[in-house]
Amino acid sequence: MTSELPSITIKGTGSYAPQKVLTNDEISTFVDTSDEWIHSRSGIKERRVAAEDETTSDMAKKAGEAAMKAASLSPEDIDLVIVATITPDKPFPSTACLTQHKLGLPKAVSFDIEAACSGFLFALETGAALLRSGNYKRALVIGSEKMSSITDWTDRTTCVLFGDSAGAVVLEKGTIQGTGFLGANLSSDGASSDILHMPGGGSLIPASENSVATRQHFLKMKGREVFKFAVRAMEQSAVDILQQHNLTTKEIDCIIPHQANLRIIELLSSKLDLPMDKFFINLDRYGNTSAASIPLALDEAVRSKRIKSKDMILMLAFGGGLTWGSSLIRWP
Ligand code: COA
Repeated sequence: MTSELPSITIKGTGSYAPQKVLTNDEISTFVDTSDEWIHSRSGIKERRVAAEDETTSDMAKKAGEAAMKAASLSPEDIDLVIVATITPDKPFPSTACLTQHKLGLPKAVSFDIEAACSGFLFALETGAALLRSGNYKRALVIGSEKMSSITDWTDRTTCVLFGDSAGAVVLEKGTIQGTGFLGANLSSDGASSDILHMPGGGSLIPASENSVATRQHFLKMKGREVFKFAVRAMEQSAVDILQQHNLTTKEIDCIIPHQANLRIIELLSSKLDLPMDKFFINLDRYGNTSAASIPLALDEAVRSKRIKSKDMILMLAFGGGLTWGSSLIRWP
C-alpha cells in the first residue's frame, strides 16, 4: 500500500536504563505489597530508577547516542529529533530541544510528541511521514521517561508498575521498497481520558499548595479498566494492520508489545492465536517505562539477535489518552 512512497529504513537502535535497580522486595518495605503479589499480577520483578539529578533528556541523549553509533552517523547527519514522553524535563521547552543540544546536533529540527505509553509509535509514524515529505533525510526518534518523577510512592496500586529508561531508533529515507518501517495503524479516544492520567500541572489544575497537598501531580489509574481496554485495543489494532498489509499472523516473526503487564500480553497471545515465544518480553526487569518501553525492548531484541535480517516485526502499544496502535517493520 506504500509502494510509491520512499521507503523508511531503520539504520540503528539504542537504549539506556539507569543503574539503580529497585526490586519488588524493596518496594514492599515502604508500601503494603509483596514480591509475590506484584509478580503474579504483572510479571514485574524489578525496575530501574533514575538518579535524582538525571533527567528525561539525559536518558534520551544516552539512548540517542547509542542509536547514532549503531547507525555509524555523526551529529551533522541528523535532521530531526522527535522525543515521545509524558515526563518532560519541564513543561517547555521540549525535551527534544534539550536532547538535541546535549547531543550537539547542529541542524536537527526538534519537538516532542505526547501520546503516553503509545508515544513511541506515534513518534515513529510522524518521523516517517516527515522523511517522506522530502524535507529531511534522517530522524532520531526517541522514547524517554522518568516515570519515577510522576509516581506516587505511597500508592501501592500504581507505584509497583512503572520504571525509568529510554530507547531510540534512527530512521533514514531509503530506496529499497518493502523493508524498514512499513506503516502504522494509530487510534485515539479522549472519552475515557480519566482512567489513566495525571490531573495536575496543566491549565486545568495549575500547581498550587492545594494541588500538591492533594497529590494531583502524580499518575492516577483505574487498573482494571485499563487492563480490559489494553487487550481489546491491541488485539483490534493487530488485526487491522495485518489486514491492511495482506499479512497473516504466521508471517510475523517477532512481536514487540508495550511492556506493561505479562497477563495482558498472555491474553493477547491467546486472542491473536500467536504463541508467547513470538513476543519479546523484558518487563520483568524494567516494569512499564511508558513511551520508552517499545524502543528499549526493540533495541534489546536487536542486540540479543532475537531479531534477524528480513524478520517481520509487529509493535503494539496502548496508553493514556486513550491512545493505541500498531506498527510493522521488515528488518533490513
Ligand atoms: N499489593 C498488594 N495488593 C494490592 C496492590 C499491591 N501493589 N495493588 C492493589 N492491591 C489490592 C487491591 O487493593 C485489591 O484489594 P481488595 O480486593 O481488597 O480491594 C486487590 O489487590 C485486587 O486489586 P485489583 O485492582 O483487582 O487487581 P488486578 O488483578 O486488576 O491487578 C493491576 C491490578 C494494576 C496489576 C492490573 O489491573 C493492571 O495491570 N492493569 C493495567 C495497568 C496498566 O497496564 N497500566 C499502564 C497503562 S500504559
